Amino acid sequence: MVKGSSFYTIEWLAEGISMLDQRILPEKEIYNLYDDYEGVADAIKTMVIRGAPAIGVAAAMGIAIAAEKANVGSFDELSDALKPAFELIASTRPTAVNLFWALDRMRNRLSELQDSGVNEAKAALVSEALAIRRDDVEINRAMGRYGAEFINDGDTVLTHCNAGALATAGYGTALGVIRAAVEAGKMIDVLADETRPFLQGARLTAWELHKDGIPVTLITDNMAGAMMAKGMVQKIVVGADRIAANGDVANKIGTYSVAVLAKRHGIPFFVAAPLSTIDRTLADGSGIPIEERSPDEVTHIGGYRIVPKGVPVKNPAFDVTPNELVSAIFTEKGVARADYRETIAGLFEN
Ligand code: MRU
Repeated sequence: MVKGSSFYTIEWLAEGISMLDQRILPEKEIYNLYDDYEGVADAIKTMVIRGAPAIGVAAAMGIAIAAEKANVGSFDELSDALKPAFELIASTRPTAVNLFWALDRMRNRLSELQDSGVNEAKAALVSEALAIRRDDVEINRAMGRYGAEFINDGDTVLTHCNAGALATAGYGTALGVIRAAVEAGKMIDVLADETRPFLQGARLTAWELHKDGIPVTLITDNMAGAMMAKGMVQKIVVGADRIAANGDVANKIGTYSVAVLAKRHGIPFFVAAPLSTIDRTLADGSGIPIEERSPDEVTHIGGYRIVPKGVPVKNPAFDVTPNELVSAIFTEKGVARADYRETIAGLFEN
């Protein structure tokens, strides 16, 4: 449990990996237990756990539990036994680069353990996964401190999707900026987009902020423009699933529309994301893979059909906001601003 929080997203327990089931919030607060990597992969795919950094932590823990459970007698056997786990977990969700970043970190740690005994290697992989989880909270707090400088006392901050404690190991990225501003004594109101179709804003952002006593008002996605036109929004802060080397930002579907509206109304549009969300192998956002999810998420709400049978629907889960619409990117190492190619590269140097 992260200090000061009344819930957790993901924990490593003696019995297995415990995750708060985000599919059924806010109705029910239930923790599921996973004791094999197949279960962890399924939890990522079906959105029991979601949000780029949280997916990364789950992926690392999935590899750690696969190692712990492997019935092997040598390092080489352990390495072979982990291959299907790496493959299955990598196939769960394509957009959030933190998943692949975490798998790479576990793979690199494994390769350093070649001369270790099996038990030592298993323990080291568990430690690595726990370090990824622990680091994530520290990173979010650092990012929050940088971002909070840009938020004024009395601001109403609009956010899209859920980039909070629920999307990370704790504290949050975009909501971490808001938490840090509140901790600095600023009075902040949050306007949360409901975020159709999966409703991360309505179900998750509203839940965690309300639980933590941070003022939050919910709007449907199509209300954001009217709120901005009326002067009811001073800042926008969102998270990210993958940021290209030039600062183009992939985030939850609808983020791009919010960024365009922000430009129209002269409202700063900020992105908060750890360096592990930046994919410097991609020159720009055009190469970011966009997950297409089940049409059922669009055709049904709470199990109730709202679209006539036979009508085709689209369900891209993410969109890409071009860098010229982004006022700044907050990271744990500092703030990137245009020209993003240069400032992002600079953040990786120190
Ligand atoms: O489909 P999801 O719920 O995993 O999408 C989550 C988002 O788009 C978040 O904004 C992003 O992962 C940043 S989370 C700190």
